[in-house]
Amino acid sequence: MSCEFCSHQTPSLDDLGVITKVDKGDMFSLTQKMPEDIEQALSDFGTRTFSRFSPVNIVIAGMGGSAISGDIANSLLRDELSIPLIVMRDYNLPSFIKRTTLFFAVSYSGNTEETLSAYNEAKAKNARCVVISSGGKLKEIAGDDVYISLPSGMPPRAAFPFIFVPLVRSLEAMEIVKKRNDWQEAIELLRELREEYSPLTPTPENNAKKLAYSLKGKLPLIYASSPLLYGVALRWKTQINENAKAHAYVDYFPELHHNEIMAWERNDKVANFAVVLLRDKGENDRIKKRIEITKELIGDKTEIYEVWTRGEGKLARIFSLIYFGDMLSLYLAVLYGVDPQEIDFINHIKNKLGKFPTS
Ligand code: PA5
Repeated sequence: MSCEFCSHQTPSLDDLGVITKVDKGDMFSLTQKMPEDIEQALSDFGTRTFSRFSPVNIVIAGMGGSAISGDIANSLLRDELSIPLIVMRDYNLPSFIKRTTLFFAVSYSGNTEETLSAYNEAKAKNARCVVISSGGKLKEIAGDDVYISLPSGMPPRAAFPFIFVPLVRSLEAMEIVKKRNDWQEAIELLRELREEYSPLTPTPENNAKKLAYSLKGKLPLIYASSPLLYGVALRWKTQINENAKAHAYVDYFPELHHNEIMAWERNDKVANFAVVLLRDKGENDRIKKRIEITKELIGDKTEIYEVWTRGEGKLARIFSLIYFGDMLSLYLAVLYGVDPQEIDFINHIKNKLGKFPTS
């Protein structure tokens, strides 16, 4: 990733005063404690046990910063799961959900109306329900269902480790997937990356800052190379949306070769795009070929940046790119001069809808 221009760009990401001024809610600190949050979440879950249950499918219902943990869990576990796992972001459930479904209702606040509605429907269908929230109405109506309590007082997207860990550990405790032993590798790698992408690490040695400079003023198109990174790519998009208040789009190999690629045939671009390829050493050989062909086709039409996972185990590889994307989105927020924590439009919509009674 080149950085011939970043030293004289303003605002300077190497000026801590600039970061502190913009980051009013201290999202940098909340993000940087990801390794400790994973440790805390593992310890909070402890040796919790569940009554025996052999579901025929798993549904994780939630929205936004709460739902993304479901996508990441799906990416992590897809090679091991012998039953389908579906992440659902809606009020109403598809009809296949029955008493044989394992249903997770996940809402950090516990008050998100889509999740509450889906949970009520799941209860009515006698699905086996697990509720995850930091309180709110979800906790009030959980009744006899398993309830997993999250620490309160965070923005939902910063609570990602606290939501993701119990999702994975619950599936292990129910013997739906094997107990994994690669948490420590992920935690140690995150501690290394914390130094690399720290505000204290100057731009020439800091790839998160460099990519933020490169994406400033551009519309990032995030292309994931493998199913392991599908959830990560969505996390990148949503973190750029919420933290940097910026548009970003996601697409996936090989599907994008059957539609999105056609948009590159045109030479008159409708926006100032930049492509970010999220890559992993485990990606399929045919995908590697496809990426080479993509670069040949579009390399002279757009800037293309590649970010590779780090680490050995799947968990470390996934977390390495989540952390990179989270830090990148915060640096982008600083470059745009916006407070990463503030989500006024999301709150506005929730408040307005809250005035209309649900049927
Ligand atoms: O990041 C956010 O704040 C949002 O995407 C929320 O997660 C989303 O609105 C759902 O709220 P909750 O996570 O409290 O269910």
